[in-house]
Amino acid sequence: MTSKQIREKYIKFFTERGHKEIAPVKLVPENDSSTLFTSSGMQPLVPYLLGQTHPAGKRLVNSQPCFRAEDIEEVGDNRHTTFFEMLGNWSLGDYFKKKQLHWIWEFLTQELGLAKEKLYVSVFEGNRDVPKDEESFEIWKSLDIAEDHILFHGVSENWWSRSGSPDKMPVGEIGGPDSEVFYDFGNDNLLEIGNSVFIEYQKQEDGSLKELSQKNVDFGGGLERLTTAMLDQPDIFQTDLYDSILRKIEEITNKKYTENKAGMQVIADHMRAAEALIAEGVVPSNKLQGYVLRKLLRRSAVKLRQLNKSADLSLIVSGKVIKDETERFGRTIDHGLKEIEKLDHINGKAAFDLYQTFGFPYEITEELFRQKGQEIDKEQFKAEFEKHRDLSRAASAGMFKGGLADNSEIVTKYHTATHLLHQALRTVLGSSVFQKGSNITAERLRFDFSYERKMTDCEIKQVEDLVNQKIKEDLVVTKEIMDKDSAGKSGALGFFTEKYGDQVTVYSIGDFSKEICGGPHVERTGAIGGIKITKEEAVSGGTRRIKAEIMLR
Ligand code: SER
Repeated sequence: MTSKQIREKYIKFFTERGHKEIAPVKLVPENDSSTLFTSSGMQPLVPYLLGQTHPAGKRLVNSQPCFRAEDIEEVGDNRHTTFFEMLGNWSLGDYFKKKQLHWIWEFLTQELGLAKEKLYVSVFEGNRDVPKDEESFEIWKSLDIAEDHILFHGVSENWWSRSGSPDKMPVGEIGGPDSEVFYDFGNDNLLEIGNSVFIEYQKQEDGSLKELSQKNVDFGGGLERLTTAMLDQPDIFQTDLYDSILRKIEEITNKKYTENKAGMQVIADHMRAAEALIAEGVVPSNKLQGYVLRKLLRRSAVKLRQLNKSADLSLIVSGKVIKDETERFGRTIDHGLKEIEKLDHINGKAAFDLYQTFGFPYEITEELFRQKGQEIDKEQFKAEFEKHRDLSRAASAGMFKGGLADNSEIVTKYHTATHLLHQALRTVLGSSVFQKGSNITAERLRFDFSYERKMTDCEIKQVEDLVNQKIKEDLVVTKEIMDKDSAGKSGALGFFTEKYGDQVTVYSIGDFSKEICGGPHVERTGAIGGIKITKEEAVSGGTRRIKAEIMLR
């Protein structure tokens, strides 16, 4: 069975059981500054898992491309990737454990025809705050799964939230116990192929977990892994999903995959990811998504160079972005080589600096010195590397994980303030103004809009006063679900309207503002307190940017 057939069967299986297929979102999330990438199918659904009504209903299904930057160092074996496709189905407070586990089992064993004897399942064993998941255990048993194929684990294995175990969940974050399915390739080589998360808890200020008002199911299964299980061989790179890219790598390096697995796995994964990011407009840079893309390309370039010195990355995936970056990095390599020439001894720390400054992976430096007859202290390199990794992990933890801060009270206030600001700009500057982007953190809002020139101080003050006036009026915020056409006709401003199919949510603030939006929003504008515009500047020709902060009044 091909990966395409598996994807189609999954979507069909769940649509036949009352699920609506929703469109996947982009890898670079829109309107969400708390994370760099979409790393799971549930990420754009958080407001709905928390109780908001989804326009497509309570049962959803889709296939979502995902990118997990935090896994970059793991790539180079038969199962890890940064980029993958997640098949997902959700119950937003509708069915729960029984239906989910029955359906997943039916899908795997009957639709896909995987042998029951090859499957293992796992169940949450319970901890201080959350009881053992006896219910899932009984359900699996009732499906005739042998007890020695049912494994119990604690929070490290059988708890899922975007930030991991309960103690790592920030206030407001949702999660719950989960139940995984594994495929056994023999000799205890188990591969997780699907995970049903029972999202029923939310982290509280006092550190406790509170039950959500609705009990949700969030299932995710990696298409690459399901495909490899269907082939009964454990290397996801030997599935049709990687076929064409591996053939290209073999062709341009003139080497065989089976003899150069680790290097080619890195190139294949990273270049697939790079291609997808570039398609969304990401360009290599030293910041945020651009930095991650640069890292993907450089790691690939180095691996490729190790396989064949004259092979060119842009022959694997073509495009100007890749060509330019490869040329730039080629110069960096030359520069780095000159630096190395200058050093008469290279210790582990210097090897690490080369890695940091020039992007020279350790193996390359080691190889170059082996050629020069020098050995490097690998332990010292590793120690430097770990130190740095811990630091950068801590600094970027929030950013690389799924949108963590997004539904806090303050961010919700900023969401509503953004709508008010948008309308106020249109009232003061004219209706040619429209939103081009927005980005919210717990500290400020940033709003990009179309306008030809710098705003005058007087205009800025007028906009600020108008927003604060509307806050003072304590207007009621209302929500309506309607089809896209009616929303358009009602005069609602619309952005990213392709996201949720035909039905959209429209938020109105009194009769001042009306916008299509996923929310969440405050119930009345008075809750915001007041805002202050802190900056007005150009982003590019025809686009201006405003930053504003919420002030207590
Ligand atoms: N959100 C869960 C995961 O990413 C299941 O979809 O594993």
